[in-house]
Amino acid sequence: MSSDNDVSSVTRRHLFGTWRKQRDWSPLNVVGGEGCYLHDASGKDILDLSSMLVCVNLGYSNRAIVESVTEQIQRLPYIIPSMTTQVKAEVAKLLKEVLPDNLEKFFFSTSGTDAIEAALKIARLKTGRPKIVSRYFSYHGSTMGSIAASGEVRRWFVEHFGKAGDVVFAPPPYCYRCPFKLRYPECGIACVEVIDHIVKNEFGVAGILFEPVVGTNGVIVPPPGYMERLQEIARENDVLLIDDEVMTGWFRTGKWFAVEHWGVKPDILVTAKGLTSSYVPLALTAVSKEIAEHFEENFFAHGHTYEAHPVALAAAKAAIQEYRRLRIWENVERVGRYLERRLRELGEKHRSVGEVRGIGMFWAIDLTRDRRTREPFSTYQDKYEGRPVMAERLAAEALKRGVYVLGYVNNLVIAPPLIATEREIDRGIEVLDEVLKVSDQEARS
Ligand SMILES: Cc1ncc(COP(=O)(O)O)c(C=O)c1O
Repeated sequence: MSSDNDVSSVTRRHLFGTWRKQRDWSPLNVVGGEGCYLHDASGKDILDLSSMLVCVNLGYSNRAIVESVTEQIQRLPYIIPSMTTQVKAEVAKLLKEVLPDNLEKFFFSTSGTDAIEAALKIARLKTGRPKIVSRYFSYHGSTMGSIAASGEVRRWFVEHFGKAGDVVFAPPPYCYRCPFKLRYPECGIACVEVIDHIVKNEFGVAGILFEPVVGTNGVIVPPPGYMERLQEIARENDVLLIDDEVMTGWFRTGKWFAVEHWGVKPDILVTAKGLTSSYVPLALTAVSKEIAEHFEENFFAHGHTYEAHPVALAAAKAAIQEYRRLRIWENVERVGRYLERRLRELGEKHRSVGEVRGIGMFWAIDLTRDRRTREPFSTYQDKYEGRPVMAERLAAEALKRGVYVLGYVNNLVIAPPLIATEREIDRGIEVLDEVLKVSDQEARS
């Protein structure tokens, strides 16, 4: 298989393209990567403005992770979960240093989805209650339990024959298109108060599952007071707070974990992606001391062959050390502020930009056909029915111009590797400036 054509067409024939109709899938053949750039088979450099799926936090050429993985695979490539080895203890100690300090015990798996499944099972086993409260505009994973808890269109495909799981949905803190048509702060944060109402009126709620900053569905940062009140609601009603930091963890928002912005201490924290900078699949479900103690005398009814895989843990060990060595929070602070300024300039200039919002190095451009009515170009219904959606159209245009950006339904998600420089941001903004002309043409002024 020497030519680009062979690689793409064999892939196309034998592998599934995910979350799409297969027709028209034509995967780009990528041969390497360095820093914030990918190299494709035609010799073109592609700037990654979204860290792929908001996961390659340290870029493509981190030597420390590569060396740590290589060393571990040579020393001991696999061990059964019931045994232990040095790297397990090392990563456990590192996690204890960086996670919210109430979290005590860890379960490792291989994807964000798996880690959410574990969290849901743990919450149900601990409380003996079946229901989870989640929110619309959330994504928590692709398997039956995690997709049932996801408040967006990807769940619709498994609900043809009835409700997927024991989940009750609340509206998200989406001020730009507030579901209650209210304005902050006069709204009294109705979207969090309704969660209190749900928990009090539903029978058997085990926990509240939330992304502290909504990810794929538009980088929605909660308004001041929201997260603090959510924690209060969980405590007052004796339900668990289940924090999905699959996307927001590992300095994406400027902190180790996004809940730190609001001083929130979750009972369960789930993360993946940046845990290894995605060099090797690894995910984590971390639980409080109280939950850990429950399982001293009760069955921990969960496990995988690849639980705590030593090679993946070696990647996590190096990644955590690299975040520290690089003092990555300083780059997120400086370049994140620059990224915000440049994105807001785009917002001023392009009439199809409804809102620019975000935190740290995690931003969205929420598109609109009409700035007055805030009407979106595309909806979940469009996605469900396979109609072309605007954000994906713009992302395809950007790729033609050498910039990869994640587009989902009506939002562009701008989340470059945390090592990005101002120059790389400028290059990305230049291309976004070009492609937003496409949506501008279809917007009403
Ligand atoms: C917030 C959140 N939770 C869970 C998941 C699922 O993770 P994975 O794709 O690794 O299964 C994702 C994936 O993007 C996510 O963004």
